[in-house]
Amino acid sequence: MLTALHMVNTLPKPEIKTPSKETVLTPRFYTTDFETAANLDLSAQETELKAMLAEMRTDYNRHHFVRDEVFNQSWEHIEGEARQAFIEYLERSCISEFSGFLLFKELSRKLKNRSPVLAEIFQLMARDEARHAGFLNKAMGDFKLSLDLGNVTKTRTYTFFPIEWVLYTVYLSEKIGYWRYIIIYRHLEKYPENQFYPIFQYFESWCQDENRHGDIFKALLRSQPQLWNNWKARLWSRFFLLSVFATHTLTVHERAGFYTSLGLDATEFDCEVVRNTNETAGRAFPVMLNTEHPQFFPRLQRCAGYNMKIAEIESSSIPKVVKVIRKLPLIAAIVWNLLLVYLIKPVDAEALRQTVR
Ligand SMILES: [Fe+2]
Ligand SMILES: [Fe+2]
Repeated sequence: MLTALHMVNTLPKPEIKTPSKETVLTPRFYTTDFETAANLDLSAQETELKAMLAEMRTDYNRHHFVRDEVFNQSWEHIEGEARQAFIEYLERSCISEFSGFLLFKELSRKLKNRSPVLAEIFQLMARDEARHAGFLNKAMGDFKLSLDLGNVTKTRTYTFFPIEWVLYTVYLSEKIGYWRYIIIYRHLEKYPENQFYPIFQYFESWCQDENRHGDIFKALLRSQPQLWNNWKARLWSRFFLLSVFATHTLTVHERAGFYTSLGLDATEFDCEVVRNTNETAGRAFPVMLNTEHPQFFPRLQRCAGYNMKIAEIESSSIPKVVKVIRKLPLIAAIVWNLLLVYLIKPVDAEALRQTVR
């Protein structure tokens, strides 16, 4: 599993890129309560989890993440803003894949003698994420940059999440990851002239890894009825759905240039990813958000606009105090709009599940 990362270190020395500044929107590193994780009673989903473990052992993508000769050329013709936007995209994706690797690896280590099935599942998911992160880091190497992931591990701050939050958020991030990769892949299949770099060709099988990881987290979530059968669980689900969607919308709009370079409309891409992820989440979560509500996307997009203004203020040369004063009303506006979206009546996914049955 570590080989993917080691290989990065043996490439002709690219410049080590200082990781971009951490903000509310940058991917985070997580740690959790391993004791509670070890004591989870998984019996309700045992068959499902064992089937997923067997699938993970099959390792469908073991030969997938091999760079073919198309990569061996100069990428200097990708210049200016497009180059900058693409490097940022690679970095962000690499950090977020690597963050998954670290969490899964640690979970597998801590659960080894306590919950063997879960420990192996996490070990195999860590294997996949290491491949993903390594592959992205090699792509950065083509642009003469590389992340020192060992150093990033030491210097980043780790956010503590109780295991219940980990189950909600990792489920969502795997599924949203699946939709992001597959939508880009399908778009480029239709418009191959926009494929300016070969990494996108790998997204189809790549996103199946994320889909499987998501299904594992779905089984874990469903094995814990308290995470979906009561009003508190419904409120938490709404909260996590909204935070993942808001982060996505803000980030996509901030990086609109990257999507434009692929011939995608950032706003349309954002809505498509959110709609699909929300619908998928209805299979695991007790509620889905009502993305069809006339205020749902407009309010999220308004937040993206305020966020861009904040970024503009941040990068200007005005004194720090003035920056804070100018940013405050914008932050308040984001919080207010998100609160209004949170209050939109959600869709009852449990009731839908029963109708389908
Ligand atoms: Fe991944
Ligand atoms: Fe994943």
